[in-house]
Amino acid sequence: AVDPTLAGRRVLVTAGATREALDPVRFLSNRSTGKMGYALAREAARRGAQVVLVAGPGNLPDPEGVEVVHVESARDMHAAVLARAGWLDVAIGAAAVADYRPAVFQPHKIKKGEDRLVLELVRNPDILADLGRQKRPGQVLVGFAAETADLAEYARRKLEEKNLDLIVANDVTQPDAGFAVDTNRAVLVHRDGRQEDLPLMSKDALAAAILDRVAALLGRRDPE
Ligand code: PMT
Repeated sequence: AVDPTLAGRRVLVTAGATREALDPVRFLSNRSTGKMGYALAREAARRGAQVVLVAGPGNLPDPEGVEVVHVESARDMHAAVLARAGWLDVAIGAAAVADYRPAVFQPHKIKKGEDRLVLELVRNPDILADLGRQKRPGQVLVGFAAETADLAEYARRKLEEKNLDLIVANDVTQPDAGFAVDTNRAVLVHRDGRQEDLPLMSKDALAAAILDRVAALLGRRDPE
């Protein structure tokens, strides 16, 4: 059903993995499938929001009623998101963005040669941190934190570093949570220090829980 707080709001969601090319046929990537981000985009659209989904490569169908921007690398995703920084009321970063990319892109396929090959990597821009730096009053920024230990602690640090309003921490070492599966188990860490430990649920249900918190954050502010 339409959500009175989210209806007409401009929501941007990132989803999936990025690919960082080494040469024309090879890339570095990770295990994200986009399921979590697509669930968020579908749920936001169902609630009446105007939704843009910026998605890395994957097999999921474009959700109905959602503008999907397909990207490949972290730098492509960064450009697509930052171009909409002034447009969006809400940004939710569910994508697993590569922190590093190969320092050099080899224009021809790398040939087999020596026994050892050393790869040099350089840092990618941080999409949410850049949104956080230019956040305007009323904008709501939500991040995810994919962790393998000390979930809430690392999540809180990311929330502060990126100037977020809410962060969703998931333990990606659990077989029924995190990457690729249809379920997730999350700890929500709020800016005011509140922490909610949510039970195991479907990614659709977690998307609804996150959007309930987003609606509460938007509702506290004066509508434009
Ligand atoms: O796609 P699925 O298969 O459904 O898997 C879901 C998921 C495990 C990918 C998802 O639930 C999740 O945890 N997404 C965030 C993964 C991640 O890369 O987390 P991080 O802790 O490295 O990054 C923290 C936050 O900063 C994230 O919101 C991320 O989108 C954002 N970020 C990270 C790096 C970067 N260069 N720019 C960013 O905006």
